[in-house]
This record gives sequence, structure tokens and C-alpha cells, in this order.
Amino acid sequence: AAVRGLSTTAQLSKINNVTVIGAGLMGSGIAQVSANAKLNVVVVDSNQSALDKAQKGIESSLQRVAKKKHADDAKAQTALVSSVLDRIKMSTNMSDSVKDADLVIEAIVENIDIKRKLFAEVEAAAKPTTLITTNTSSLRLADIGLNLKDKTRFGGLHFFNPVPMMKLLEVVRHNDTSDDTFQKLMEYGKAVGKTTVACKDTPGFIVNRLLVPYMFEALRLYERGDASMPDIDVAMKLGAGYPMGPFELSDYVGLDTCKFIMDGWHKQYPDEVAFKPSPLLDSLVDAGKTGRKSGEGFYKYK
Ligand code: 3HC
Repeated sequence: AAVRGLSTTAQLSKINNVTVIGAGLMGSGIAQVSANAKLNVVVVDSNQSALDKAQKGIESSLQRVAKKKHADDAKAQTALVSSVLDRIKMSTNMSDSVKDADLVIEAIVENIDIKRKLFAEVEAAAKPTTLITTNTSSLRLADIGLNLKDKTRFGGLHFFNPVPMMKLLEVVRHNDTSDDTFQKLMEYGKAVGKTTVACKDTPGFIVNRLLVPYMFEALRLYERGDASMPDIDVAMKLGAGYPMGPFELSDYVGLDTCKFIMDGWHKQYPDEVAFKPSPLLDSLVDAGKTGRKSGEGFYKYK
């Protein structure tokens, strides 16, 4: 058992440098939890203003975490925030940022062509041992990784929003992911404080395969005129113990993201009733009402 313990530690210690590609909400959260676990992090984005926004977002999230951890100690709060921030570098240069990475986590837009191109570039610039992963929420790994020469080091790390708070990490293996890669990804998940579950390369993995159709079923219930939005939200919070009702959660995740996931699955599985489009969702997204981030979705926000 001691030998087994040792080898686990030795494997885990191989991941020191993490490069996160994409400085959006998910990328920022992933960078934060990785740096918090004492890993060296580089966040890459082609857009400098996205990097600046990510830096601010990480700082304010860390302040919330620090306030909770060191309630009456302002000095300890500042020390925690700056020690984590010190381990995060921002860069607009992708190939430079992945060359020392032990683990690359992609968290860019859900566009298959852009991702395929990016992964080919990442593989060319990275070491031959670097683990290459995607935080995709709805696309198939087999499709995303199509252009990779070595698919054994490729897998999925699917985090949940808000990343610092949500305790789950779905670790996804596709047909070619090696046992060693999968094991290391599970170890990384534990190192960043998440509970890991093993998923296959199927639409929505576990959580979104159940959660997204549930959110859509709520929309259909409303569209049929069977209940109001606030009543549906209250019902699911108080009757099923969910922290947010389905409409609050959709606004929180982003209606554009919800629509993107459903449209993609509908195209892939046209006969699956659960994946059918919703006229209300389509019209809100068309009008730019994408949820909390735009100030309005199903509800209005200040
Ligand atoms: N960073 C750090 N701390 C945060 C935070 C953040 N981004 N967001 C919230 N917190 C902390 C707050 O500081 C607060 O701490 P406290 O209780 O000690 O004061 C605590 O979380 C609670 O926050 P709030 O009081 O603001 O609000 P809530 O009690 O409603 O909690 C929530 C917020 C954790 C977001 C909770 O509502 C929740 O769990 N909602 C459901 C989220 C969910 O289901 N996410 C998954 C979406 S699906 C997904 O991401 C997959 C993708 O592929 C689509």
C-alpha cells in the first residue's frame, strides 16, 4: 500500500504547470482553483481586455473566498489573495504559454472548427508528454480531438459554474484516452479540491445530460401555460432542494450557452424529444437577452 501511495504522489507531482486557454468565466475559475492548489498557471487569450477582465474577476472571487476563510483577519485575507494571484500569469501568446505546460485546459468558445485548429497548434507547441484537455460542455471529444496526432494524452475536464464553489469535476475519457492520462486527470481533480466522476464521451456527460433537458422541460411547462416562471423556480427550490430554480439557473449559465447546447444536440439527435428547440428561448437569444450577463434573460437584473 505504501508503494502504491508513493507512486500516486510521484505521478501527481508531474503536474506543476497548468495552461488555461480562454479567459472567460470558466477559464478564470479553472485558473483560480489550480493556482489555489499551488500549481503554476498561465491563462492565455488572444484578447487582452478579456485577460484584464479575468484578472479582476479572479481577484474579486478570491476576496470572497478569503473573507470566508479568514473572517476577522484582514492581513490573512490579503496574503491569501496575493499568494494565489502571484501564481497566475496572463498571456496573449499561445505557443509560448504551452511549451512548459504539464497540463493544458481549453475553455474557449464552443465551436468545433476553432477548437480543432487550436488543439493542433497546442500539440505542435507543447511537450510530447503534456496532457491536453477540453472543458467542453456539449461537444464530443472524438470530434474536437480529430486533428491530434497523439490522442492518448487527450481527455475532458468539465467544471461547473461558479468553478470555485461547485465541488464536482467530470473527468471524460474518449476511446483513445490512455489509462495513465485518465488517472492523472483524476489526480489533478482531487488536487484542486474537486470530487471527480468518470464520464464517457457522450452528449452532456452526466450533469448536462440530465440538467439541460430538465431546464428545457421547465421552459415547455411555462410555454404550455401550466405555471408561471417564479412559481416553477420556487417549486424546484423548495420542493426538490435545488439552490436555484430552472429559469434562474438558465439565466446564470447564459441563455446563449443553453441554446447552443440544445441546438447542437438537436442537430445530432433530431428524433430526441428532449432536445427540441424552444421558441421563447430562441427569441430571447435573438434579442440579445442572454441572461444575467446581459442584464436580462427570463428575468431582469440590475
Ligand atoms: N467565487 C467565490 N465565491 C463565490 C462565488 C464565486 N464566483 N459565487 C458565490 N460564492 C460564494 C459566496 O461568497 C457565498 O459565500 P457565503 O455563503 O459564505 O457568504 C456563497 O458562495 C453563496 O453565495 P450567494 O449568497 O451569493 O448566493 P447563493 O447562496 O445562491 O449561492 C451559488 C450561489 C453557489 C451559485 C448557488 O446558487 C448554486 O449552487 N447555484 C447552482 C449553480 C449550478 O447549478 N451550477 C452548475 C451550472 S451547469 C454548468 O456550469 C455546466 C455548463 O457546462 C453549462
